[in-house]
Amino acid sequence: MKMTGKFITFEGPEGSGKSTHIKLLKAFLEERGIEVVLTREPGGTPLGEEIRKILQHDHTEPPVPSAEVLLFLASRAQHVERLIRPSLEQGKWVLCDRFADSTFAYQGYGRGFDMASLRAVNAFAVSGLRPDLTVLLDVTPETSRARLAVRQASTATTPDRIEREAAAFHERVRNGFLALAAEEPERLVVISTERDPAEVAAAVRQAVERLPLKLPLNPLPGCSGSRQ
Ligand code: TMP
Repeated sequence: MKMTGKFITFEGPEGSGKSTHIKLLKAFLEERGIEVVLTREPGGTPLGEEIRKILQHDHTEPPVPSAEVLLFLASRAQHVERLIRPSLEQGKWVLCDRFADSTFAYQGYGRGFDMASLRAVNAFAVSGLRPDLTVLLDVTPETSRARLAVRQASTATTPDRIEREAAAFHERVRNGFLALAAEEPERLVVISTERDPAEVAAAVRQAVERLPLKLPLNPLPGCSGSRQ
């Protein structure tokens, strides 16, 4: 079946502001009459959410690195087939908090898995699905650590298994995301979140307005279609 909706993914290191900005974009699109599905990885389906718990929480037996890759990909396969592709076929726009670029950044650049193998196993899971646009929200490791500390203090939570990785791991992940964006600049738009959140939101909207659209998007006042 032909897909008519748009698939937009949000990526970035921990504390990059994805959840805030994905919600702002959802509201912006809905104001323009677009039906939006907001989802996330790992997760997005009942099975995916169970896999998320396994991946994030402490168990007597943490997954070995290759099992970790396959768990993320199992969640993705279920998500693509059960939620993302059907929603796109119904003309909905799917906004997804993390997708394949997280696997390449975290398991590839972070854990050191061979990129060709990761691309092959990801291709198996997504069967040809590719985001129309990926918003890469960039943040320095220092800001990322500071934001995580504030979030954990305000929500009284402790860092999960991946958040607890060493600073060097998170630095490799951030550099990995930037390398992925340099390889595919037409799909991945890098937006620094080290500035006023309103400016970040405007930059996200501008990236979306550049997509070839079926529905006209009327820019909000103060958000012209001009490129930065
Ligand atoms: P978050 O959605 O709250 O950011 O948490 C997801 C965590 O899982 C985050 O630490 C990044 C990590 N992750 C991977 O390592 N590989 C993946 O493929 C995905 C989707 C997420």
